[in-house]
Amino acid sequence: MPCTVVVCGFFGDTGKGKVISYLAIEDRIDVAARGGVGPNAGHTVVFKGKKYVMRMLPSAFVNERCRLLIGPGVLIDPSVFLSEVELVNARGRAGLDPQCAIIEEAHKEADRRGHLKKRIGSTGSGCGPCNADRALRMVRVARDIPELKPFLADVPLEVNKAIDEGKNVLLEGTQGTFLSLWHGTYPYVTSKDVTASAICSDVGVGPTKVDDVIVVFKAYVTRVGPGPLPGELSEEEARRRGWFEIASVTGRKRRSAPFNFELAKRAVMLNGATQIALTKIDVLYPECRGATDFDELPRGAKEFVARVERETGVPVSLIGTGPEAHEIIDRRDELGLRR
Ligand code: IMP
Ligand code: MG
Repeated sequence: MPCTVVVCGFFGDTGKGKVISYLAIEDRIDVAARGGVGPNAGHTVVFKGKKYVMRMLPSAFVNERCRLLIGPGVLIDPSVFLSEVELVNARGRAGLDPQCAIIEEAHKEADRRGHLKKRIGSTGSGCGPCNADRALRMVRVARDIPELKPFLADVPLEVNKAIDEGKNVLLEGTQGTFLSLWHGTYPYVTSKDVTASAICSDVGVGPTKVDDVIVVFKAYVTRVGPGPLPGELSEEEARRRGWFEIASVTGRKRRSAPFNFELAKRAVMLNGATQIALTKIDVLYPECRGATDFDELPRGAKEFVARVERETGVPVSLIGTGPEAHEIIDRRDELGLRR
């Protein structure tokens, strides 16, 4: 802190929601702003025994004092946004930029058929067609929608002001590095760049204002939809290892593969990572479940963490040991990383 960007280093679904919900409380985040594509994302937060899948609002909602913003680069589905505002009681603290583009029914229909559905395996949430219309300058934006009027805010101004005042600011990325339209496994990617630089641009924060970039990796790799996945396991083997997952937004099966050090190195490079959050280590080493101290980890898990650090050259500062926000090992003090 004060300005930290959190992004995923693989293909999405690595546990950004979990990591961010922890940081929101632990670091007393004042302002959280979401960048990324739009409601094609699903960030899972488990807090006080309740599970939330957030598609629009920042995962930092668990800190009731945190301002919850959505940057102008992000696409808004008004019905998803408004229902999440009610769900987490965020009427007084949620804001979105007047220039956020609006997903229409026609965008969703176009996204649920043809090339995008069949070849790319899109989520069907309308994001690709909406970004296409946005590039053609044919979309409506948030300031055109009466129901969104109470939430309009100058997001870049608010976020930069908070940074200048020394407040704790967190920028939340969506999707994953290798789903980036520029840097991912094209054409099996999403409809824009989603690396840390893009997340900053979505929110309106310049590169000199960022203090830390946390790249989140899961202890194994998953991806939904088609596209390359080196070392992919059969569904049977994935189930045997406990790696089999169902996508939180689309309900599709996630494909899985072992942790990929080559991809991790490249993600660290593309995002300028200063720290790594490694999640779901309890899935590889069940003895880790719920641990909050590094010393509680079995030797194999410690060796895995050390190898991730050695190969990427970046410290693993946070280690997820279960789905709840507080089930995490925070090594930032021990590693001298806390600001
Ligand atoms: P679209 O972003 O809906 O156009 O989908 C394009 C590709 O990105 C598909 O393979 C989706 O499954 C994938 N994708 C988009 N958003 C996410 C996400 O948040 N998590 C994981 N995969 C995603
Ligand atoms: Mg997800």
